[in-house]
Amino acid sequence: MITEVPMPRTPAILFVCLGNICRSPLAEGAMRAVAEREGIECLIDSAGTGPWHIGDAPDPRAQRVARRHGVEIGDLRGRQVSADDFERFSHIVALDKQNLAALQKVRPTGSRAELKLLLDYVPGMAGKAVADPYYGDENDFEKTWSVVSLGAEALVALLKSA
Ligand code: 4NP
Repeated sequence: MITEVPMPRTPAILFVCLGNICRSPLAEGAMRAVAEREGIECLIDSAGTGPWHIGDAPDPRAQRVARRHGVEIGDLRGRQVSADDFERFSHIVALDKQNLAALQKVRPTGSRAELKLLLDYVPGMAGKAVADPYYGDENDFEKTWSVVSLGAEALVALLKSA
């Protein structure tokens, strides 16, 4: 028997990177800002596939860059993705292919959550990864903000059209 896992009624978006302290909190912050601006009701969260930063605040460089763009992410705390997330979220959005592959392994049989790369939602950028800025400098975090903002705009446009 195939068991179908129910989908949440309100759109619920989970951004997933490796550490949950750089890319996915920036994506969460960008998405919150765009969804609020466009009046779209949705749940937004982020998580990491790795366990190293559970309970940690976003990287200070990510916090500064978000703040520079008018978005506060300092209250977010790292957590690790789990199989339950595939029931709670309608869209699970990986920041790169390594994390997409890790999520495919965590995904329970029968899950109907949409699992894609963030940039799959952006016309002309399908299949591309959001580069990890962790070993870079603050300029790399600015580039991350720009690219996750493109993803957030595309996702909100998709939710608006649904
Ligand atoms: P993130 O960046 O996946 O964008 O949060 C990283 C943060 C920490 C580590 C790797 C990537 N780390 O190995 O601790």
